[in-house]
Amino acid sequence: MPTTPIAPPLYPSVVYRCDSPTQAAGLLNREAAGYVYSRDGHPNGDQLAAICCQHHAVQEGIACGSGMAALSTLLLGTLSSGDHLIASNLLYGQTTNLLRNELPKLGITSTEVDPCDIQAVEAAFANGAKGLLVETISNPMLRVIDLAKLAEIAHGSDAWLAVDNTFASPSVCRPVEHGADFILESITKMMNGHSDVLLGFVGGNVDSLERLRKASITWGFTAAPFDCWLATRGIGTLDLRVERACANAMTIAQTLQADGRVNEVSYPGLPQHPDHELCRRQFHMGRFGHMLSFTLPGGWDAASKFIAAARCIPFSPSLGDLETTLSHPASTSHRKLSQEERLGYGIDDGTLRLSIGIEPVERIVDALEEGLTGLR
Ligand SMILES: Cc1ncc(COP(=O)(O)O)c(C=O)c1O
Repeated sequence: MPTTPIAPPLYPSVVYRCDSPTQAAGLLNREAAGYVYSRDGHPNGDQLAAICCQHHAVQEGIACGSGMAALSTLLLGTLSSGDHLIASNLLYGQTTNLLRNELPKLGITSTEVDPCDIQAVEAAFANGAKGLLVETISNPMLRVIDLAKLAEIAHGSDAWLAVDNTFASPSVCRPVEHGADFILESITKMMNGHSDVLLGFVGGNVDSLERLRKASITWGFTAAPFDCWLATRGIGTLDLRVERACANAMTIAQTLQADGRVNEVSYPGLPQHPDHELCRRQFHMGRFGHMLSFTLPGGWDAASKFIAAARCIPFSPSLGDLETTLSHPASTSHRKLSQEERLGYGIDDGTLRLSIGIEPVERIVDALEEGLTGLR
């Protein structure tokens, strides 16, 4: 071809024609670069993985069919029957479900610990563990985890630290810069940013991800070419979107904080947030993320009224879309916990979580005002 396209080509082909048995064997054994069968790898997956690696400043990474597929790739690629994992007690619900209900079937056990309680994490390592799994920013109360401290503890016990960075994205935090060995992203969220693909990424600051790659291929976690192609386009604007969403989130946090109709606002950018100083060390360019939570007096009833009145903010329990969306943890992500357990995490029935988008901030302020007016 005399010229090359600027937009990346899409390669939907499942299988590739080989010149000879020697070439086929070499490609399948990964002794030569190229493709044979798309579950083993394809150009769009490799291109997406390379872009994610660049964002995270890691050598190697794998694009997977969802954030959960990336997590499963990590766990199945690093752990064996008899191994033990230490995990944050503030993880995404399906991650906890995987650790509590699926991994034990394979003989892999885990202990849950408050990742903000350094002594508790140290104590959990007393019985040995292969790894420690945390999230950079917790859902929905947005506690920020001290990654450097946890890396030190994990490495002191010859264990790895894996960090699910989905709520931050690499435009807010790069966990490997703070000692993490593995990073996970649900690309589905802010990284792709358009709510139109389900994808995940696992990357490593380690010698080789070959065992993870084998696990991903064998268990069938490979991402689809079209999804990778779309996400490549989405990630192209990641930094711009995150910059704008973080600025909007700060304005919204300050606006809600100053509003007497709101009980409590949790946003790491507010000086009174318990992890505000840590964020200044751990996050890039004075950014504090695009997620925030606030609690309305009046519990479930008030949350329902707000959701009905804030017509311009979709109640859609995901995050990272172009536009602001809203979630109600008590009826969605945390519905399986008892009310007592939820309160233990600071989640009231009147707690709402916002994923702040990149629309003009006045539009978000107006939409929230509609919701608050609806409380009357
Ligand atoms: C923090 C976090 N990690 C992982 C996941 C799973 O990602 P996916 O839905 O792409 O499988 C989610 C999904 O909401 C999440 O919020």
